[in-house]
Amino acid sequence: MKIELASNYGFCFGVKRAINIAQKYTNSATMGPLIHNQDEINRLKNDFNVGLYSNLNDVKENDTVIIRTHGIPKNDLKNLKAMNTKVINATCPFVTTPQNIVKDMSKDGYSILIFGDKEHPEVKGVQSYASDLDDVHIVLGIEDLENINFKHKKIACVAQTTKKKETYLEIVNHLILRNKEVRVFNTICDATFENQDAARDISIKADIMIVIGGKNSSNTKQLHSICLENCHDSYLIENEDDIDSSWFKNKEFCGITAGASTPDWVIQKVVDKIKNFK
Ligand code: F3S
Repeated sequence: MKIELASNYGFCFGVKRAINIAQKYTNSATMGPLIHNQDEINRLKNDFNVGLYSNLNDVKENDTVIIRTHGIPKNDLKNLKAMNTKVINATCPFVTTPQNIVKDMSKDGYSILIFGDKEHPEVKGVQSYASDLDDVHIVLGIEDLENINFKHKKIACVAQTTKKKETYLEIVNHLILRNKEVRVFNTICDATFENQDAARDISIKADIMIVIGGKNSSNTKQLHSICLENCHDSYLIENEDDIDSSWFKNKEFCGITAGASTPDWVIQKVVDKIKNFK
């Protein structure tokens, strides 16, 4: 039986990059969880002694502090640097971009609009780069635009990296009809959608599909339903223990994909187990 991984699967570029950085700095700690995956955070702790600070008060002089993938607020970064620590920035470059845009546009006299979830660490970080925090407006859809009073006639828009382009378009279309100047920056990252496209492509060819990821993870369930559209024998598993050898009887092509929060070592264990089936 042929076994093939989708052309894009599992962790995105920014998460892989952050993990590689963390592995280089043993005996360090991260400011906030490095990524959204507890197994991987545990592994970094056990194998590389990379710990976790719950807040700035935990940090001591000469510590090595790794900044999480989603970034942290500007003042936290400034305070850390002032504390005589070694700061290693693992913020995803796709998150640094909206931070810089907000900083520059705010300085140039633009009101700032962020399409995103105001409780998300990434959005909190991006927001903090504005020079006037009272003129940053965070929305999730056009319904949130009604009661906003922009201080300036010029508006600059950025989006949280994982948001949907279609909703962003609705928001900026709404704004452009009511304001003289709207600068729109496409800061949405395609990584989440690349996994879906690759799952679609491989499930068309496969006669069995294995989707690895948390059963409660929405992006993993999404991948599973895409695979089911093309391959009737598509199974969602959390790890190699969930595999049933009878699924593979008379199969010739096994495709594998994984959700955005599935570490490579979990995927490898699944591949190894399947390879061992006769
Ligand atoms: Fe990942 Fe960075 Fe995009 S963390 S989802 S590559 S913004």
